[in-house]
Amino acid sequence: MIKACLFDLDGVIVDTAKYHYIAWKELAAELGFEFTEKDNERLKGVSRMASLDILLSIGGITKTEKEKDLLAQRKNERYVSLISQMEADEILPGAKEFLTACRKTGIATALGSASKNAMIILERLKLNDLFDVIIDGTHTTKAKPDPEVFLLGAAALRVEPEHCVVFEDAEAGIEAALAAGMKCVGIGSSEVLGKANLVIAGLHQMSLEKLKDLQ
Ligand code: G6P
Ligand code: MG
Repeated sequence: MIKACLFDLDGVIVDTAKYHYIAWKELAAELGFEFTEKDNERLKGVSRMASLDILLSIGGITKTEKEKDLLAQRKNERYVSLISQMEADEILPGAKEFLTACRKTGIATALGSASKNAMIILERLKLNDLFDVIIDGTHTTKAKPDPEVFLLGAAALRVEPEHCVVFEDAEAGIEAALAAGMKCVGIGSSEVLGKANLVIAGLHQMSLEKLKDLQ
């Protein structure tokens, strides 16, 4: 029986990949190389510092830990300035509706995001009230594919992992959900998210009936 749904934020609830992309692209340009949209795909679900390492490897650049901290800080300042202007139409189709439907039928909801900026987005778009529990990058010590973020969410909801379903758009997130012993719905293409129990294009394609079928 499904008792709780846990949601990734970026790419599942809101379309923020485009803002990460702008901020990383600008940083790469400052460092003297091009960062493409295809490169950006590699950063989905990847923590900020690990993303920076990938970016630097694309540019063939080596930096000290101290320099990397400053670069990550600069990228984040730009990203925060962009998400601080987000509007309600950037909430992905069906997200609010599905979260609301879950809560109406007594299914608990949690956020399980790697982002340390999750609260800025939730507050700006007034989404906080749709989640019973919010776990983000400020609560975790291990990045996806480690299951920590989802296990913390399930524990806070007091629901056993086998009664939880995770919604994720990144391969590392799917692996984290499965490692937590939870069911997983992939948001995106089945080519990338093939390990998920079900793959849909977005939460607008999700329903309580499909949730029941996952048991
Ligand atoms: C999500 C995004 C990643 C991002 C990570 C950390 O997983 O998909 O692209 O790097 O969060 O986000 P932050 O807002 O803390 O830099
Ligand atoms: Mg994501």
